[in-house]
Amino acid sequence: MCGIVGYIGKEQAAPILLEGLSRLEYRGYDSAGVAVFDGMSGTLAVHKAKGRLQVLSDQLHGGADLNSTAGVGHTRWATHGAPSDVNSHPQVSRSGRIAVVHNGIIENYAELKTFLLAQGVPFTSETDTEVVAQLIEYFYEGDLLAAVGRALRRIQGAYALGILCADCPDQIVAVRKDSPLILGYGEGCSFIASDVTAILRHTRRVGYMEDGELAVLTREGIQCYDHLMQPVRKDAVTIDWEIDAAEKGGYEHFMFKEIMEQPEALRRCLSPRIRQGEVVFEDFALSEEYLAAMNRIYIVACGSSYHVGMVGKYHLERLTRKPVEVALGSEFRYMDPIVDEHTLVIVISQSGETLDTMAALREARRLGGHILSIVNVVGSSIARESDQVLYTWAGPEIAVATTKAYTTQLALLSLLALWMGNRLGTVSQEEYRRAAAAFLELPGKMEEVLSRRDGIQYLASQYFNHDSIFFIGRNLDYALGLEGSLKLKEISYIHSEAYASGELKHGTISLIEEGTLVVALGTYEALFAKAMSNIVEVKARGASVLALTTQGRREEMAQTADAVMTIPDLHQLLLPCLGVVPLQLFAYYVALMRGCDIDKPRNLAKSVTVE
Ligand code: F6R
Repeated sequence: MCGIVGYIGKEQAAPILLEGLSRLEYRGYDSAGVAVFDGMSGTLAVHKAKGRLQVLSDQLHGGADLNSTAGVGHTRWATHGAPSDVNSHPQVSRSGRIAVVHNGIIENYAELKTFLLAQGVPFTSETDTEVVAQLIEYFYEGDLLAAVGRALRRIQGAYALGILCADCPDQIVAVRKDSPLILGYGEGCSFIASDVTAILRHTRRVGYMEDGELAVLTREGIQCYDHLMQPVRKDAVTIDWEIDAAEKGGYEHFMFKEIMEQPEALRRCLSPRIRQGEVVFEDFALSEEYLAAMNRIYIVACGSSYHVGMVGKYHLERLTRKPVEVALGSEFRYMDPIVDEHTLVIVISQSGETLDTMAALREARRLGGHILSIVNVVGSSIARESDQVLYTWAGPEIAVATTKAYTTQLALLSLLALWMGNRLGTVSQEEYRRAAAAFLELPGKMEEVLSRRDGIQYLASQYFNHDSIFFIGRNLDYALGLEGSLKLKEISYIHSEAYASGELKHGTISLIEEGTLVVALGTYEALFAKAMSNIVEVKARGASVLALTTQGRREEMAQTADAVMTIPDLHQLLLPCLGVVPLQLFAYYVALMRGCDIDKPRNLAKSVTVE
């Protein structure tokens, strides 16, 4: 999705903006631009280019061409209007004196455009953002903040905005509603950014803007205002991870680095939460009375986080005997969900900014549910709007396709299920102890899987030229297949579907023909025999079967499947967490062999902040 960086200080702004934007490239974008004050002429210099940031950077010689100490920059992911130089941001007003960078969508832009056109304001782009620049100029009478305030009263939608005005060379105005924006506090300088990675090289002290807030950035500091223009105090928090964590560190791709980082991320996530054989959550609590009265659990998420929820449903229902529904963030609001004060709503999001998930959270809150979120990005919108938060502590995830966030979310949700089962008395003490101990074994077992990655690379070389791949499995293996299939299709562009094995014969099996690749998942011990019979079924129709099972079942599986990937034996609760790793590696190597842009797959964005 779009990225924003803004800087005002004493150093040359453009190189800082371009470097900051390069840190946001991972989010996915199709064009880039910067606007800076030109002190000599008293105007704004705006430069934009379709395509990679490098195109813009080359045009500006890395920013050296722009002599200015304040400006804003943007990477755009097209929504209104195709990717082009003219539709890129910053968008400027008719006089060129107001420039705006924008993340989000202005919902009533057509109505505002009609109004402005009727006032004789000409438009040059197809974007919703140009409306914002034109409207601010329309209201501008010498006080930028007042003009922004008046414009905001007319604007509906989601926005993070960075605004420059040629008349105010010593300030940048920032605004946030439903789209993240961070303030950065430096020595003699101030920053805005849509993601902390863009400014971490310059400052670790950041402030999170709340919805409806405005900020005026100067070289001396930042003043925030609420939607009524009343000054608000904002405390800075210090980011405690290093910029190296968001760099490739010698790996060819972020995705591969993040796959390899999973054991460490799991140790960070799990070790503090399991002590002397007990599951301990210091960061949150749900009373025994609350748990006993809980009538149902909703899990709400999108994409891979939703797949975590699909696995979590099986675990939670088995361990707590409470009904669990898993809902897509984009569907939840429209399903008339049955939520009241006895409903626990578990919201899962790596970024903590996914708009559909956030909208579902707000709907659940409106209905009276208790919101517990599982989030990676500290201080993100979803984390801040939840009643309670469990952080995954996976570290920054840069590759668009999630890996370490998925496994830490899944481990944490599984741990939560075990903790709840123990509190409710619905899990035996014996199972509780055995499972709690298994969580501590998980990182080591995952290292074993990763150390055997050459075998998976070989399998990828055998199958990378297939056009269509099916993932099949039952119960936990079905939920795992959903994620394996998504991982493969999103980065390799191979058409792939995941099916509950039992459903095949109700239609899908007609697609299986000589040579079709079926990835058959058979890690769930209780349903191993069923998995085998489904494999026989597809083989009888000519499919090639690549199976995934546990080491204990390898030999049996090898008698039927064409090729077998294995994971170490471990408590059933954790097998999906382990089982996803070979599927991630398979997807990665297949995409590598097909020459795909692994970290930035086409059309995708890291954090989806539009509906
Ligand atoms: C797929 C992927 C996406 C995200 C989804 C939700 O690899 O990363 O499907 O899982 O966009 O994102 P978050 O978890 O940030 O809400």
